Amino acid sequence: MKTILTISASNRAESINAELLNYAVKHISGVEISALSMQDVKLPFYNQDLEASDGIPAQFESIKPLLDSADGYLIACPEHNGLMPAEFKNFLDWLSRVYSSEKPAFGGKPMLLISTSPGENGGSTNLATLARLLPWQGANIVANYSLGSFYQTFQQGKLSEQEHAALSNAINNLTTAVNAG
Ligand SMILES: Cc1cc2nc3c(=O)[nH]c(=O)nc-3n(C[C@H](O)[C@H](O)[C@H](O)COP(=O)(O)O)c2cc1C
Repeated sequence: MKTILTISASNRAESINAELLNYAVKHISGVEISALSMQDVKLPFYNQDLEASDGIPAQFESIKPLLDSADGYLIACPEHNGLMPAEFKNFLDWLSRVYSSEKPAFGGKPMLLISTSPGENGGSTNLATLARLLPWQGANIVANYSLGSFYQTFQQGKLSEQEHAALSNAINNLTTAVNAG
């Protein structure tokens, strides 16, 4: 069976993006799920001098096998001032040093990007940026989905029929691409 690695890009304990990610995972079938959360990834702030003196952080000994063994990725990412949270950008900076342009982190494998926020645009400004940048690290973006006005639209852990259908469609794009790979 193929494996999808989920990445929760928020480091907040009560993350609404993690809630949306959990909802999405409950509606994925026919693949194994592995998980990585920025809550568990504590990396030093990237600095070329630090890399030269101390090398790659030891945490990548467990993170790299998770990335390499996955057949596809589902990333849930908050938006901070129109961009990804700084900690996730830092993670991506380290990733670009662990991997290379010849062998990029996401290996040409399919990826679905999702986000939500209390505001109407649901983090879609950042999603568009991620969709443009993550292919630099080998992501094959097959779909993205954003949910606006989280506290109104995600009532008691449920989505409206219309939002559920849009998310299911995005998930289907991911699982179809993963199973075809
Ligand atoms: C520093 C900061 C900047 C933010 N900027 C945005 C933004 O640009 N767009 C947006 O929709 N929400 C923004 N928010 C609100 C976040 O969407 C909200 O805090 C959300 O809960 C973050 O996701 P999380 O709970 O998964 O960590 C910002 C929040 C913080 C703390």
